[in-house]
Amino acid sequence: MTEQGFFTEADSAEVVISRNAAAKDARLAEVMAVLIRHLHAAVKEIEPTEEEWLKAILFLSETGHMCSDWRQEFILLSDILGVSMLVDAINNRKPKGASESTVLGPFHVADAPELPMGANICLDQKGQPMRVHGRILDTEGNPIPGAKIDVWQANDEGFYDVQQKGIQPDFNLRGVFRTGADGSYHFRGVKPKFYPIPDDGPVGKLLRQLGRHPYRPAHLHYIIEAPGFDRLVTHIFDPDDPYIRSDAVFGVKESLMARFTPMTDPASGFEGEFLDLQFDFVLSRS
Ligand code: BEZ
Ligand code: FE
Repeated sequence: MTEQGFFTEADSAEVVISRNAAAKDARLAEVMAVLIRHLHAAVKEIEPTEEEWLKAILFLSETGHMCSDWRQEFILLSDILGVSMLVDAINNRKPKGASESTVLGPFHVADAPELPMGANICLDQKGQPMRVHGRILDTEGNPIPGAKIDVWQANDEGFYDVQQKGIQPDFNLRGVFRTGADGSYHFRGVKPKFYPIPDDGPVGKLLRQLGRHPYRPAHLHYIIEAPGFDRLVTHIFDPDDPYIRSDAVFGVKESLMARFTPMTDPASGFEGEFLDLQFDFVLSRS
């Protein structure tokens, strides 16, 4: 055992870090050293009272108690602090021209049905009809055939099917499509609405105390995969949404906005007016 100094206010971080010198996992030791250094610096800057520190401990305890198989309050906390988007940015640096990524969110369902290209993912005929179309391309502009497109969206009231079991049909507004030789995709949906992230727990309470709203602007979620390319987890956002500049989880990127354009076109198969949403996705090579 190596000789170590006693704990002092001035040397607090270094004393604690040196205690971890025998850690077998070098990455763990590095991560803990950075965390300890920043945490001690924050405590020195804040100088919390003992009551305030206990309040912080109770907040984290409550966050843990809120977690279950279907609710991850710590991910929500990471989301509203911008940490989820920062981890996403660090792990998804893309070459020029490739589509940008954004958060996955908690409402993806792994086994959504594979549907024929052009299918309507809206199973309850509720909402403003929408045609969604575009191409999956590489960074040279070539179409990618055989790309898997997994799409999901909230309905016209801002709810996912999994939040309204027994109200919306299972797999409503979800589908998996595969591109053909020309790399194009098209399907029907309905205009999604903005919605609040789950805000009935400690994270929602914190948002209210900070004077923040819990809303995400209207969007469609995508996971796009193709052999030889990086998996793309992203959204398309409505630029006219009231919350486009204040997404509760910081997921919006300028490059991921596309207009929902009202249109009538007898050749489209839609009766009367529908919204047209066109967006090309560009995948980076893995
Ligand atoms: C979502 O877009 O589904 C989402 C993302 C982060 C937190 C909550 C919801
Ligand atoms: Fe969402």
